[in-house]
Amino acid sequence: MQNAFKQHWENIYTTKTPEQVSWTQEMPETSIAFLEALQLPKDASILDVGGGDSKFADYLLKKGFTNISVLDISEKSIERAKNRLGNEANKIHWINSNILDFQPSIKYDLWHDRAAFHFLTEKKEIDAYVQLASKFAKNLVIGTFSVDGPFKCSGLEITQYDENKMKDLFQTAGFQNTECKRVVHTTPFGSTQNFVFCGFVKRDLE
Ligand SMILES: C[S@@+](CC[C@H](N)C(=O)[O-])C[C@H]1O[C@@H](n2cnc3c(N)ncnc32)[C@H](O)[C@@H]1O
Repeated sequence: MQNAFKQHWENIYTTKTPEQVSWTQEMPETSIAFLEALQLPKDASILDVGGGDSKFADYLLKKGFTNISVLDISEKSIERAKNRLGNEANKIHWINSNILDFQPSIKYDLWHDRAAFHFLTEKKEIDAYVQLASKFAKNLVIGTFSVDGPFKCSGLEITQYDENKMKDLFQTAGFQNTECKRVVHTTPFGSTQNFVFCGFVKRDLE
């Protein structure tokens, strides 16, 4: 099952262009707004979970952040992002892993996840993710499909969230909510997808 999931993503990134997948954004504006609100120093450690070939990394590089990590289950997505970024890619720590197998060696000043967390549909996986974030995220930004959004993403079942469900889940793990936003994403094909983004802070970490 694990391997089939990874293979799904390798196939997607091998066969589809950015214009052919729903999640592509030229500018990840909501993620940027959460980032800017945090006013992190340029050497802050930032992890983009399921970053794929998102341009969030491009924005971070452009803004001069020096400690950026992009994690994705798909090796092909990382290869694509590296090709896009050219020499600049050398400034990023690339991590090819399922987030549930990842064993961080640092606590991240910002743990960002747009549309990766929602692929976890079993309680034990969701709990494992929340526990991992609770140990290794100082600030957390999570964006998922909302309860009035799609039931599937990339042909796979997802878990929908609303503000309360997201808050309950992460507050139970010791996070404090800062803000939630409902966002309508326009896909490259012109359709729309409703997202919810929530920001959290973990105050008990040194
Ligand atoms: C819908 S795409 C979103 C990509 C990117 N975050 C963006 O906003 O453009 C989901 C991404 O999460 C990755 N992904 C899904 N489940 C994952 C997991 N369990 N661990 C690591 N990456 C995962 C996929 O390979 C894919 O790149």
